[in-house]
Amino acid sequence: MSAPTNAQFLSNCTVDSLDQAALALQKGALIAFPTETVYGLGADAVSSKAVARIYEVKGRPSDHPLIVHIPSLDSLDIWTSDLPVYAISLARDFWPGPMTMVLPRSDVAKDFITGGQDTVGLRVPAHPLALGLLNSFKKIGGLGIAAPSANRFGQVSPTTAQAVEEEIGQYLMPTDFILDGGPALVGVESTIIDCTQPSPRILRLGAITKEMIETSSGLKVTDNEANDVRVSGSLEKHYSPKAKVILDALAESGEGFLALSFIPTPRGAIRLASPSSVDEYARTLYSALRAADAQGIAQIAVIPPEGDGLALAIRDRLLRASRGRDSQ
Ligand code: TXA
Ligand code: MG
Repeated sequence: MSAPTNAQFLSNCTVDSLDQAALALQKGALIAFPTETVYGLGADAVSSKAVARIYEVKGRPSDHPLIVHIPSLDSLDIWTSDLPVYAISLARDFWPGPMTMVLPRSDVAKDFITGGQDTVGLRVPAHPLALGLLNSFKKIGGLGIAAPSANRFGQVSPTTAQAVEEEIGQYLMPTDFILDGGPALVGVESTIIDCTQPSPRILRLGAITKEMIETSSGLKVTDNEANDVRVSGSLEKHYSPKAKVILDALAESGEGFLALSFIPTPRGAIRLASPSSVDEYARTLYSALRAADAQGIAQIAVIPPEGDGLALAIRDRLLRASRGRDSQ
């Protein structure tokens, strides 16, 4: 099933291999690497040529902005032209971690990163391999790593290195790398916060919740209704497996079923995951959807978790998955 990759697949990353990957980045290679949310497909964020390859490999429209990953909040000044006080507070409280801030860009953030917008998305990821790679890259003069989720456009984000290989392995080159850092601990993409206004606004739900943002910033989070910012995760059809996803339904015989562990599997249904908590639900969500596709299951019935915070982020992704797949 799994498409072979030409890239170098590294299972036991040492400091030396991270240095090697950082050097490759500098030469224009792509490095797929683990983060605590999902795996990213990284390129040198100041190289238009390297970044162009991300769009090719993902099959993603090139006017979609990319998140720049940085080693610490000390790098914020390089990439931004204006930093509201509340953004500094959010960075101190939640970085390294599953939060992306959209801020006014500096001259370093070119149009090929921002999709021509005057803002740039920035994140310090928490995975030790991601931080190791970012620090190795910084040592040799790297300013940041542009990295979208390492999936083909519109499809489910990969949460393991094997899923990365299946998704995009065939499009990578022998000079590229896939770094294996085990299954992602959070499992859904970072919370994206627009920090260009007097108060923060959530553009994409994630593990950093509205309540956490309000507590850290001391500000009310504004509503996202009049959202005019381009966030590809906001496209109607996104995060979709091949299988049809039906929400709040019990599975028929032969169909896939995903629900918290206390909900029994309907007779004849194929249980895809039995998470016992909302955290575990997030962690197993994408691998469960992938498992359904790998088994050729046509339809998945899903009972989403209830509640706020991460449960809201999971319901958001499932709602999009239920709207079906992008035609590409
Ligand atoms: O958890 C994550 O955020 C993962 C890991 C790899 O860090 N990355 C990720 O990247 O999910 P991606 O490209 O799949 O989704 C990032 C979203 C896109 O929908 C993009 O449109 C939005 O962030 N974005 C990036 N820069 C932006 C900006 N300047 N303004 C508005 N949205 C932006
Ligand atoms: Mg994505």
